Amino acid sequence: MLNKNTLKYLYQDLDELIRQYNTNQIDRFSFVSEVERLKQANKIILDGNEDFAELVENALLEKEYEIFEQMAKIALENAKAPSSPSRVLILTGAGISAESGVRTFRESDGLWEEYDVMEVCSVEGFERNPKLVADFYDARRRDIASKLPNAAHEMVARLKRKYPNQIDLLTQNVDDLFERAGCLDLIHLHGTLTDLRCEECQCVFEIGYKSQIGAICPACQSENIRHNVVMFGEEAPMYQKLQQSIDECDVFVVIGTSGQVLNVAWYTQWFEDSLLNNLDPDEHLDPYFKVVYHEKATDAAEKIEAYVEKFLSKCNL
Ligand code: OAD
Repeated sequence: MLNKNTLKYLYQDLDELIRQYNTNQIDRFSFVSEVERLKQANKIILDGNEDFAELVENALLEKEYEIFEQMAKIALENAKAPSSPSRVLILTGAGISAESGVRTFRESDGLWEEYDVMEVCSVEGFERNPKLVADFYDARRRDIASKLPNAAHEMVARLKRKYPNQIDLLTQNVDDLFERAGCLDLIHLHGTLTDLRCEECQCVFEIGYKSQIGAICPACQSENIRHNVVMFGEEAPMYQKLQQSIDECDVFVVIGTSGQVLNVAWYTQWFEDSLLNNLDPDEHLDPYFKVVYHEKATDAAEKIEAYVEKFLSKCNL
């Protein structure tokens, strides 16, 4: 005859097994074997008893669901925070060339102290007095002819050689000091001093450090030639490339720019990490960057290189 107590003890044993399994005191294999042992020992009373089977199945499913839930959580966290950012945008300004002897624009001895920016660097100024603008750019070309790249240009060039596909190098500078440091794969956002542009056929051709007075287009022989530097009031076609790099890169490194033309502080929101190197503190820039160095670019170079390496060396494994 079926003893009610036997059934009660059996369920108590099963409860205890489920508790141990759920609290990880026994693994799945032991749980299943113990349940099997209970079933065998109580074959007669369990015959046709769906309850028992259902309890066992629920315990197994619940546990599996919990594991699945944990796996999904980990996968989601990994997707949100990739372990190694893989692309770096390096954006430079006049400050990186300052120690090579090229004057910056807005500092106390900067070019805009000596020249009226709207006379030599705007569409209206150019229309008013193209000769003045040509003279200005001739002087800039003469000036950079003797300048040499410094340790900061060389550091960036070295990184770019090492990680050609993981670094986007964009500069606001119109000098050729990166090229002289052996780095040809960069974007000049504001144009290049050592080239001229034909106003008739838009051909861009090299002039080096020579005067542009009397230059003729090698493609269409036009004499309607201008400097190859963007002016205020003009489109800067390379800004499309800047937007693309902002979209695609994870880390932002800014060297030697006041951020007066390109709003680098604003761009930081689209990067996981960011570094700024300028000479002087600036309350409108510094708080937006995670790492800030106020020192000469050549002094900060080693730290900047290590910072970029920290991200990219992982990707090269
Ligand atoms: P700015 O002259 O506006 O700013 C130069 C920045 O470089 C400042 O923030 C300085 O603190 C920093 N600096 C100076 N010496 C440095 C050094 N040795 N090491 C590190 N940082 C140093 O020059 P940009 O921001 O580059 O446009 O100017 C942007 C644009 O304005 C230029 O491309 C130019 C100009 O109008 C065109 O010509 C189209």
